[in-house]
Amino acid sequence: LPAHEQPADAWLSSPPQAPRRTHSSHKGSFGDVLVLGGESLSRRGLGMTGAALLAARAALHAGAGRVLVALLDEADHALTLDPLQPELMLRRPEAMTLTQATVVCGCGGGEAVRAWLPRVLSEAPQLVLDADALNHIAAEADLQAQLQARASRHLPTVLTPHPLEAARLLGQDTTTVQSDRQHAAQTLAQRFGVVVVLKGSGTVVAAPGQTPRINPTGNARLASGGTGDVLAGLLGALWAAQPDAHTTLAGFLAACSAVYLHGQVADHWEGTHSLTASRLAAALRPINTGF
Ligand code: APR
Ligand code: MG
Repeated sequence: LPAHEQPADAWLSSPPQAPRRTHSSHKGSFGDVLVLGGESLSRRGLGMTGAALLAARAALHAGAGRVLVALLDEADHALTLDPLQPELMLRRPEAMTLTQATVVCGCGGGEAVRAWLPRVLSEAPQLVLDADALNHIAAEADLQAQLQARASRHLPTVLTPHPLEAARLLGQDTTTVQSDRQHAAQTLAQRFGVVVVLKGSGTVVAAPGQTPRINPTGNARLASGGTGDVLAGLLGALWAAQPDAHTTLAGFLAACSAVYLHGQVADHWEGTHSLTASRLAAALRPINTGF
């Protein structure tokens, strides 16, 4: 059976189709992930540059062919390198080419991400929206219309809200969202024509025309800052590696697998060290390696 026709437990635990790492593989076989985000201390006094770097590291460790990072705050434009992860390719945002990559947007991006959202929404062929990108969309009807327009243009999108971000998008309070998480996720999925990953204990993955799935893995070890950014990067990498990435179904399967694998690392964690987001990112493995 194709993955989406299998029972939830069977396919939640099996990764989506991804190319095997064979002798003839090259980095182009596994897709590009472009992470856009980061906000330095210069604006709101909030340093969120780490969020973009965590997402990027997660994508790298999960097997993406190339990971590019555009830090959106001017104060970070002098950065040409992440010295702790020199594989990452830092790009000035104006030099970004969105048309090839799976774009992971808003991981910790604050005000700076707002200016780039219209271009990202209109150009990114596959798009994961997280954190402040979602908050901006919740606050502005124009951005909501642009998000809906993506679905009619067959440009698939995955939203990864935590309960408060979902509540803002729905115009509800968090208690209402949490009282029926499957309903909240499915409502958002239908309204915007997107895949929705409603995070938290028992993460829900919903998409138009699909029965919402509840992820069975994960635990409170994940309740620490940055683990959501790691999920966004992991999801981007699994999605980018899929042969038919330009579909909502591919985004849905990548989302289900990403939340499963993310939780599984926490469930199998035996180290005496606590599971920080950096360690979570470094513990990810490419799927379907063949070796
Ligand atoms: N059980 C299972 N999974 C959990 C649990 C739990 N008890 N607690 C947290 N998680 C998982 C969630 O499902 C999600 O995948 O950890 C991740 C947490 O993601 P976020 O809520 O986005 O938290 P974080 O990564 O810290 O992001 C913080 O996001 O809301 C924005 O800008 C905001 O700075 C903030 C940033
Ligand atoms: Mg978050």
